[in-house]
Amino acid sequence: MIIRPRSLLAGLRSYVPTLSHFRDMGGSTTSARYCYAVWMRHLVKLSEAGLEKIPATVAELGPGGSLGIIIAALLSGAERGIGLDAVAHADSESNLRVLEEMVELFRCRTSIPGHTEFPQLRPVLLDYAFPAHLLLDETLTQCLAPERITAIRRAIYQKGNLLEYVAPWGNAGSIEPQSIDLLLSQAVLEHVDALETVYACMSRWLRPGALMSHVIDYPCHNISSHWNGQWACGPRYWKLVRGKRPFFINRRPHSTHLQLHVFNGFKPLLVEVRVDETGLPAHRLAPPYRYMDKTNLTTSGSLIISQKTKGKD
Ligand SMILES: C[S@@+](CC[C@H](N)C(=O)[O-])C[C@H]1O[C@@H](n2cnc3c(N)ncnc32)[C@H](O)[C@@H]1O
Repeated sequence: MIIRPRSLLAGLRSYVPTLSHFRDMGGSTTSARYCYAVWMRHLVKLSEAGLEKIPATVAELGPGGSLGIIIAALLSGAERGIGLDAVAHADSESNLRVLEEMVELFRCRTSIPGHTEFPQLRPVLLDYAFPAHLLLDETLTQCLAPERITAIRRAIYQKGNLLEYVAPWGNAGSIEPQSIDLLLSQAVLEHVDALETVYACMSRWLRPGALMSHVIDYPCHNISSHWNGQWACGPRYWKLVRGKRPFFINRRPHSTHLQLHVFNGFKPLLVEVRVDETGLPAHRLAPPYRYMDKTNLTTSGSLIISQKTKGKD
């Protein structure tokens, strides 16, 4: 059996309201060190792709258990942070705890947590030293000043311009058009059902010249013992496995994301892929997946950094 019985059972149970038990799946962002590692890794890669200064308005799609990555952006010099999620996993208490821990990580100029601490975390860097060339002492002194921390603390509890949490976000109208300078996501785009709509929204929200940075994990998310086992299920069987969970995995391959970037006016600046040739062979996959090209068949993860070239509204 390619799909683990417990994953099938969880899908089936989700059809019965009294039996359905939604496992939160808000990711790892209740850990300040995880959020710090994710933000710093995106920042280093963004600078490799041409980012010169910390963007003014930073948004994150699918922040999960806390707004820690956005908080890290605010501590780095961003003026405004926005978290958009399909499910409201984060609460003020976790945000506040993550903020206090994060401030210490910045104050100590902590090195970026690496492979030993987060073996699965992407992107991988060549150098995990604190990126002092991006986060200048002068900026950090201002961002870590007591009055700035108090303002962030207050923003966690009160709705305001500094820190916004839109969860669940409904449609393109959730954010003003062309108001975002950087949008990032970590392990989210593989979960989004309405992928075409979400790319169109991102295109509407970003200013021309703004950047996006997405880490996308294509594997089966532990529902199979084969990393690409999700592609072995035909549509009827997949309906049972998917069930009625609020979100799951969308099974979209790497090329779909690249095409959606370009279609929505995003020019890829840096694309890094993780190749895995240990999966099920193509003939054991279900149509249409068995007909994918070799790149899609063997790409198990990616980092895509892009720049918005034109508006779509
Ligand atoms: C595996 S968690 C990752 C959370 C966090 N980014 C991390 O690194 O731990 C996937 C996240 O994607 C969110 N998500 C799923 N569909 C979404 C959508 N259409 N829009 C925004 N977020 C979505 C989920 O609610 C969840 O917070």
